[in-house]
Amino acid sequence: MIELKNEQELKRMRQAARVVAGLLKQVSAMVRPGIKTKALDEAAIAYIHGQGAKPAFLGYRGYPASICVSINEEVVHGIPGERRIRSGDVVSIDAGAVVEGFYGDAALTLALGEISSQAQALIQTTQQALTQGIAQAVVGNRISDISHAIQRHVEQQGFGVVREFVGHGIGRALHEEPPVPNFGDPHLGPRLQVGMVLAIEPMVTLGDYRVQVLADGWTAVTKDRSLAAHFEHTIAITEQGPEILTLCEDK
Ligand code: MF3
Ligand code: CO
Repeated sequence: MIELKNEQELKRMRQAARVVAGLLKQVSAMVRPGIKTKALDEAAIAYIHGQGAKPAFLGYRGYPASICVSINEEVVHGIPGERRIRSGDVVSIDAGAVVEGFYGDAALTLALGEISSQAQALIQTTQQALTQGIAQAVVGNRISDISHAIQRHVEQQGFGVVREFVGHGIGRALHEEPPVPNFGDPHLGPRLQVGMVLAIEPMVTLGDYRVQVLADGWTAVTKDRSLAAHFEHTIAITEQGPEILTLCEDK
């Protein structure tokens, strides 16, 4: 069932989302050559607790960390560990937090040092696709209008859009109804209503869009090992249009 949030609930969702935005900012600033991905996770846990929040990912279906760090051909759900980030890496960071029972979820991709112009285009296109998807999150549209706008933008630029993972409703749980695919024909699925809160999250690949989960049971990589990028925001549908809850205030 799709839950519509009232003002009181939206207030707590804004708080959770603000923690996530601050967390992504903090962790992004730490990304430099030689840093272990688990150091990012440790900083993330400390930040989340410092904000009086709880991690949303830790323990979710047994996930062992508070953030996901996915490097290069890793698309999503990379588990922080001993790996050191290197110059030239494309690094996606996905973060979630819970405040008073309400969830926030966001992700971004950044490049460290020199990357190819193709890799730069991939990152930029993924971020633009998220923006275009969010622009469709208005009353009167349907879920697949978001999906279609994302797919169209990605494929126009010649990149692939991942099918196996999708965006989702969010609120009292990390994943609520409805699913929000990043591909599909327009004008299908549930009608968008005021009070719906969605996590929209395009995952885009340089080559083939098919993915494969590694033996750790989590890390999703592109089948052809091409680069991938991922951007995500938690947004609320309001009478005034989409409100991006996970935007960093000072940006
Ligand atoms: N943004 C991802 C999602 O909504 C994060 C999930 S990581 C997990 O699916 F570990 F919590 F699964
Ligand atoms: Co999500």
